[in-house]
Formats: sequence, structure tokens, C-alpha cells
Amino acid sequence: MSETPGGPHPSGRRTQRHDHRGRSVRPVTGHEQNPAADLGGSRVLVTGGAGFIGSHLVDTLLARGAAQVRVLDNLVNGTRENLAHLDDNPSVSLITGDVRDRAARDAALTDIDIVYHLACLGVRHSLHDPVENHLVNASGSLDMLISAREHVVDRFIYVSTSEVFGTAQYAPMDEQHPTWPETVYGGGKLAGEAYARAFYRTYGMDTVVVRPFNTYGPRSHFEGDSGEVLPRTIVRLLAGHRPLIFGDGEQTRDFMHVSDTANALALLAKASGAAGQTLNLGSGTEVTMNELCAAVALAARRPDLTPEHVEARPGDVRRLIGDPTRMRTLTGFEPRVGFDDGVAQLVDWFSNNRQTRSEMLDRVADRNWLTGAVT
Ligand SMILES: NC(=O)c1ccc[n+]([C@@H]2O[C@H](COP(=O)([O-])OP(=O)(O)OC[C@H]3O[C@@H](n4cnc5c(N)ncnc54)[C@H](O)[C@@H]3O)[C@@H](O)[C@H]2O)c1
Repeated sequence: MSETPGGPHPSGRRTQRHDHRGRSVRPVTGHEQNPAADLGGSRVLVTGGAGFIGSHLVDTLLARGAAQVRVLDNLVNGTRENLAHLDDNPSVSLITGDVRDRAARDAALTDIDIVYHLACLGVRHSLHDPVENHLVNASGSLDMLISAREHVVDRFIYVSTSEVFGTAQYAPMDEQHPTWPETVYGGGKLAGEAYARAFYRTYGMDTVVVRPFNTYGPRSHFEGDSGEVLPRTIVRLLAGHRPLIFGDGEQTRDFMHVSDTANALALLAKASGAAGQTLNLGSGTEVTMNELCAAVALAARRPDLTPEHVEARPGDVRRLIGDPTRMRTLTGFEPRVGFDDGVAQLVDWFSNNRQTRSEMLDRVADRNWLTGAVT
């Protein structure tokens, strides 16, 4: 893996053939006859690719035969360590730069076919720094769309979030479910969705919007304001502390293992009929926070550590569960890892982490919507 700071690319912009709508045209090759399964020959950019989901997506794209995977990440929450296993892979490169920086975008987008845009700041960050959250998540996504259009990419996949929905008004939530985000994060991600759809309608650019629900697995964040409920709960239990539940614990989430999330995202690179679509990426099942704590306690063999219920988190969505039908119909995608198995694997992963249990616990911020990042 090579690494460069963001800046202008020596070879300048790419020249390419265009169709009558000004969109790029590539010769049809053998792998496109089986489009969803084979990425052979594709050059892919993953913004946020040093992060949790992004780094797994990089692995999956390579496994599916991408010729080149480039990462644009400013490492504010992502790490080189997440990509360290690819150090010797010449097909992977990392540009350390910000999606808001034009020179970094130009360097990242030169000679790229497919863009996955994941770079963003998280939901709890939006509670203590709404302006920066908006600037990265909403404005930064618009910047990426503008630059990707200038560089004439074949497809732009905008990775949104189920947080755009707000709490479920009916369940499971299909793509027509109203969007009433309850946080600036959800609002900013929804703006990015709207811009991606607008680029499809206004400019005929091939954009796809995908909304993962909750994703968990190795490399997930437990630290600072990036910390997700499942890894934080695991770290607390492994360190011998009772898990914290904000509110009554009957709020639900739809969990998917990151290997499944990455597989589903990879299928979208070539899925025909995906252009202009908005797709939920959920499992169609929901887990309460009380059930989540019970599953972790069982996997960690600490049933004695019962949850401690404390005040509810502001803006905490009550119920999230996605209808997976459209994604399944379009790509044939089915998740493979069940929740209990995935939790048991993740407990093992954290048990074998190079950091000690107390080192990890020190980096957990319990009320992490009040704090900045802990590094
Ligand atoms: N983790 C989940 O459960 C979940 C659920 C739904 C949607 N998503 C979406 O998936 C995507 C990835 O989420 P994740 O959980 O892997 O988070 P993450 O924080 O691990 O990944 C985001 C990456 O973006 C990078 N980044 C942040 N600001 C940047 C900037 N200005 N320029 C360049 N890079 C920047 C970070 O360093 C990080 O590596 C996000 O778009 C998120 O909205 C995640």
C-alpha cells in the first residue's frame, strides 16, 4: 500500500469517451456479463476507507477483484492500523486528506471508475459540534459529488444511514418511510442523499444511495464520541463493569455484521438497475438494548454483570428496523452472520485486542455525546 498526502495528481484529469448525455462510456468487458460478482478491472475510491466499515469494504473490493482501491481519509477517526494488513498490497493506496479539500479530491479521483463515499463525522459528534458535522457530512458530500462529476466516474455510491428516518413510524421501514431525522448527523446525511439523487436527476450522473442500519464487527469503534453501543458494552463487560443502558433499554436497532455490510456494498458497484435508487441495508430484525446486553453478557460469560439503567440520550431514536426487500431484489444480497454468532466473534476479537482491557476501558466515554474524540 502506498501513502501520499492529498494534493494535485501528476497526471492531471482523466480523459474519457462520453455518451450523448455526457456520461462516461467504457468498453464492455467479460466481467460485466456477471456484473454483481466480479469487479475485475475496476479502479475504486473509498472515502473514509481507513474507518470501520470502509476498511472492510476495501478488503471485500480487493477480494472481488478490483484492480485498484484508493482510500481518501483524513484519519480523524480512521487509522492506518485498519489498513496495515494491506501494506504489501500494491493495488491499495492511501491519500491522507480531507474531502473538503479540492486538491485532495482531485488526487483521489484521478482515473477512478467507482466511488464509495463513506467519509463523515458521527451521530454523537453532531450533538457537541453540529457545525463541523454539517460541513463534513453535507457540504463535504456535495463537494465530492461535484468533483466526481468533473472526473467522470462511472458510479457514485453514497453511503447514508438509517438515522435519516428518525424513529420508526411503521416497521419494518421501507425506502418510502418518511425521513424525520432527530439529529444534525441524520439531517446532514439526508442532505447528502438529496444531493446524490439530485445529481442523478439533474446531470444524469449514476448515483446510488444506500442506507446501512447498525453495523458491528472487528475494528468497530468503542472510543470517545465514535464509540458504538455494542463495542462499548463489550469493553465494559470484559473489564468487569456493568453495561450502561441509556433509558429503559427497549429502544431497538437493526444490526448487521460488517462482513455482510461490506459484501452488500460491493454488490452495488456493478448492480444493473441501481442508478438513481435509494436502498435500505438492514437485516429486517430488531434487537432491544436489553437483549443486546444479555447477548454480550452470555458471550463474555459474565451473566452476573446486569445492566445499569441511566438517563436517556438526547435525540436517541426509539425504533429502527429496515425492510431488506429492495436490496435483496436488486442484488440477491442475503446477510450470512446471525447476531448471536457475530456478538460471540466480536467478544473474542476484543478479548484478543493488543490493548489491555483497562486501556480500552480508559478510552470509553460513557456519555460520549458530550465529549470530543478520545484518541
Ligand atoms: N457504523 C455504523 O453502524 C453505520 C450505520 C449506518 C451508516 N454508517 C455510515 O457508514 C459510513 C462509515 O461509518 P463508520 O462506522 O465506518 O465510521 P468511521 O468513523 O469509522 O469512518 C468514517 C471515516 O471517515 C473519515 N473522515 C471523517 N471526516 C473526514 C474528512 N473530512 N475527510 C476525509 N475523511 C474523513 C474518518 O477518519 C473515518 O475513517 C459513514 O458514512 C456512516 O454514516 C455507519
